[in-house]
Formats: sequence, C-alpha cells, structure tokens
Amino acid sequence: MARVNLGLDIGTASIKAVELINNKNGYELRNLIKIDLPWMQENTEKEAITAKLIKGLIDKYKVNTGRVISGVKGESVIVRRIRMPLMGQRETNQAVRWQAEEHIPYSLDQVCLSFQVLEKNLMGEEGEYMSVILVGVKKEAIKKHLQVLTRASVFPRIVDVDALALFNVFQLSNPEDKDKVALLEIGHNNTSIVILDRGYPFLIRDINWGGFHLTQAVKKELKVSYEVAQKMKEKYGIDAEEIDLSRPVNSQNESEEKNKRLVNAAIRKAMNTLVKEIVHSFEYYTSQKEGTAIKRVILSGGTSCLRNIDKFLSEELGLSVETINPFTIIAGKPAKFQSEYLSKGSSLFTVGIGLALRKIKKI
Ligand SMILES: Nc1ncnc2c1ncn2[C@@H]1O[C@H](COP(=O)(O)OP(=O)(O)OP(=O)(O)O)[C@@H](O)[C@H]1O
Ligand SMILES: [Mg+2]
Repeated sequence: MARVNLGLDIGTASIKAVELINNKNGYELRNLIKIDLPWMQENTEKEAITAKLIKGLIDKYKVNTGRVISGVKGESVIVRRIRMPLMGQRETNQAVRWQAEEHIPYSLDQVCLSFQVLEKNLMGEEGEYMSVILVGVKKEAIKKHLQVLTRASVFPRIVDVDALALFNVFQLSNPEDKDKVALLEIGHNNTSIVILDRGYPFLIRDINWGGFHLTQAVKKELKVSYEVAQKMKEKYGIDAEEIDLSRPVNSQNESEEKNKRLVNAAIRKAMNTLVKEIVHSFEYYTSQKEGTAIKRVILSGGTSCLRNIDKFLSEELGLSVETINPFTIIAGKPAKFQSEYLSKGSSLFTVGIGLALRKIKKI
C-alpha cells in the first residue's frame, strides 16, 4: 500500500497540514487542512495552545501521523552554499565541520549540522571542486519545535527547513527554469528569500517580517483593533497605483474611500522594509556572481494573496513577479478540495506541500 506523508507547517498565523500519497501516478492529495491560530506572544501558553490545536486537527480530520515531516524557519536556521575541494564521502563529513566554523555564525556545539553535495567535478581556478549546501539549525530552536509536537503526541520522522521545502516545490513545478530566480515565501511573521543559481539555492535568508507587520501598520494608521485591521488589509490590499492622499475624495461613499486610501498608504509604507531586505539580498547575489542579476521573482505564503502585491513588487524591483501554484505538481486532487483552495489562496500551502514531498528513508 502506498504510504502517506504528512507535511505539517506550523506558522504563526495558521497550521497547515498536507497529506500526500506518492504512488505510480504521481502525487495524490489525501488531505488539506488549515486552521487559524490566535495571535500569541512567545510564551509557554503559546506552546500549549498550539499543541492543543495540532492534536485537535489530527483527531478531527483523522490524519495519519506515522510519517510526519515538519519544518523550522527563522534566524536560528542558517543555510549556505559553499565550495569544497573534491573529496570522498568520509573526508567530506569531517571537512564540513571546518567549513561550518567559518560559515555558521553560532558556536557549533549549539547547532545541528547537515549537508548535501549538490554538484561534483566542477572546475575552478584552484582545480576541481564540489558545490555543497550546508544547513545549521540551533539546537534550542529544534528543541522548542519538538516540545510543541511532543505535547501534541506527534513525533516527526524528519525536521526539515521551510525554505528548502519551498525550493523542492518550485523545483518540481519548474524543472526548466531554475536559474537567477528568487523565491519569496511571505507569511505572517517570517519571510524566506531563496535565490536560485543554476538550479540550486545560492542564498537563503529568513527575515522577521510578514503580514503581521502590515496588519500592525494598518492598525496604527486607522486606530482600529488588530482584527479590524486584518480584515481591512485583506479587503483593500494595495492599489495598483499610488494614491495622492491630498487629492479630494469624490466618492459616494466617502468614509470607505478614505479608509481605502489610508490602508493603501500604510501598507505601501510598511512594504518598504521588505523591499529593502529583498534588494539587499539581490545586491549580495549580484556582487558574488560578477554582476549577474535576478531574472524573475516567485511569490508564495499567505501574504502573497495580498491584493496587487505582485504588481507592487514588480514595480519596485523592476522584475517580473508571479505567484506560485503548488498544486500543479499534484496529479490526484479530490473534488472536495477544488473550490476551496486550489485556485485562490493555494500559495499558502506551498511549504506544507514541500514538507510532504520529502522522501523518508527506510531505517
Ligand atoms: N487575501 C489576503 N490578503 C492579504 N493578506 C492575506 C490574505 N490571505 C492571507 N493573508 C495574510 O497572510 C498571513 C498568513 O500567511 P501564512 O499562512 O503563510 O503565515 P504563517 O505560515 O502562519 O506564518 P509564518 O510562516 O510567517 O510564521 C497573514 O498575515 C494573513 O493576514
Ligand atoms: Mg509560514
């Protein structure tokens, strides 16, 4: 019988659970669930509430927890693509630690390290080399992550990195064009920037910024509650063109028009933080790759559903910007999921799908 993987994406706004079966016809969707989380500060109560919601989700939807893949993200996760002289597997295992000393900004005894050789037999000025992806995750972050899951009686077979799960989805949906592409997963409290160079991640950065910061900006500007601000953000989004706030409002519904303008202005202003971080990452890439520039940008995550965010970023960055549809890689999509998610809002399942794609080795 085909095995069912459960990708469990625990975000700050919601928990996404994706059950995928990998059979001879390709990937088949068995379950697709999203439950919202209340906004919570980082504390022990948050852990208990999140665990309770995960447990509730599993019981309600009869989710199979035998093969769970969950993910970590944020500043505790460091991913670097490095060059190493060509060597065998055993020597690589040892040499990677030396490399990690240089590339991981934390003391190595606080970090779980892993790596994967991406390409071998490459030729550089110093002779043959290989390209390796190095992943370091702070043990403390993994411990906290596992604490929540253990409380929910979930024992993941793999703890992956959200940004790599995102890359896996993109790789399958775009087998041809994986060079000079930037993936932006914009969630609620976190944005992952993944720059792909010749098919593999060249740079991965997680920034503490997301839809939460847009909601806060709207809340402050309009002096409304967090919940009202969240609704206004989702209703109005960004106008395709910047509005001159001093222009008189000629609308039948004046207060509605005023609100729209204020939301628009607050969001545009708050988006500048993100734009600066993106530009900074793109400039780093260009400086490392002798002037090579990013060609296109692919959005995912809940905030990619913000009205006109693609047009806004396209204008700011001067690049083509699209939103991913992670369901294109899934052959079997039961009708019950069609209307709900498979068109609008599908991009917020990208990480969950990417986690569920992971192959679990037999032990
Ligand atoms: N239609 C929409 N317009 C604007 N924002 C939206 C829309 N739909 C969802 N969002 C925003 O997307 C965010 C949630 O996205 P997502 O589910 O990817 O976050 P998360 O995975 O829970 O958080 P994180 O990974 O950052 O911890 C919220 O800020 C929500 O307001
Ligand atoms: Mg997320």
